[in-house]
Amino acid sequence: MASSLNGRVAIVTGGVGGIGAATCRVMAERGARIVVADINRDGAEALAAELPDALALQVDLAEEDEIAALFQATMDRYGRLDVLDNNAALLGHDVVQQDHDIATMSTELWDRTFRVNARGTMICCRHALKIMETQNSGSIINTASNLALQGNVIQSAYSASKAAVLQMTRSIATSHGKRGIRCNSVLPGLTGSRAALEHLPPRLRQIVEEETLTPYLGDPMDIAHAVAFLASDEARYITGQMIVVDGGTSVHIPGFARLSEMIQG
Ligand SMILES: NC(=O)c1ccc[n+]([C@@H]2O[C@H](COP(=O)([O-])OP(=O)(O)OC[C@H]3O[C@@H](n4cnc5c(N)ncnc54)[C@H](O)[C@@H]3O)[C@@H](O)[C@H]2O)c1
Repeated sequence: MASSLNGRVAIVTGGVGGIGAATCRVMAERGARIVVADINRDGAEALAAELPDALALQVDLAEEDEIAALFQATMDRYGRLDVLDNNAALLGHDVVQQDHDIATMSTELWDRTFRVNARGTMICCRHALKIMETQNSGSIINTASNLALQGNVIQSAYSASKAAVLQMTRSIATSHGKRGIRCNSVLPGLTGSRAALEHLPPRLRQIVEEETLTPYLGDPMDIAHAVAFLASDEARYITGQMIVVDGGTSVHIPGFARLSEMIQG
């Protein structure tokens, strides 16, 4: 039986996107009251209208005062916060197009990326912790990427910002574990969400498909289920961890997946 989140209050940042919307739906099905937080106001309102007892809030995670308003509005409506899913990331076409190797990196692009992905996540965590400290309970899930662990020729700023998120996760787990607050990271691999597939050159997609050990690429529900599990009491002894949800892409020497086909015939 799926883990229960009955009555829990959960903020999902980037809740309108592929993985975020799937996570909102899965956690709502398990009984959570969801705050759909996204820069896309219309999308947040449309999704919240589909869910029972959900709240849509527009927030730009680059702006500290907007983040403060998000947490205040959540408290005004629900009076508590049990789960923070830091899922949003700067993934617009313009950003992805410019984010290549460090030799060609613009400082402006680096700063923009870190401002949302690392700084925005940190500020969200800080607000959540202040609330969760008063409850002596809570679960924070920070979305990173398997690219936080592996080198790549592109997305250098993105990958570094996600590595920062991983270390933040360990710091929070260490500082707040004794207060009943857990913090973990999920690291998706290529997941068939709109943003991921829109921007991917066909050759890159082919490489990822070849190196993924499962016979299929994941979809947003695969990440959503991992997040919902980490949010629940079934994960009560799990903190400071990285849960990689990438069909095994990152666990082997490149090319070895095809080797198995040769050996087994
Ligand atoms: N899809 C993948 O293949 C993949 C792989 C690895 C990691 N991830 C991570 O998973 C998470 C979700 O990715 P996705 O594929 O669903 O992306 P997506 O683009 O579909 O969703 C991202 C959401 O974040 C919102 N957003 C962007 N900038 C924002 C800002 N400044 N303030 C508030 N909201 C903002 C967007 O409006 C969008 O709804 C991201 O953290 C991403 O880095 C995704």
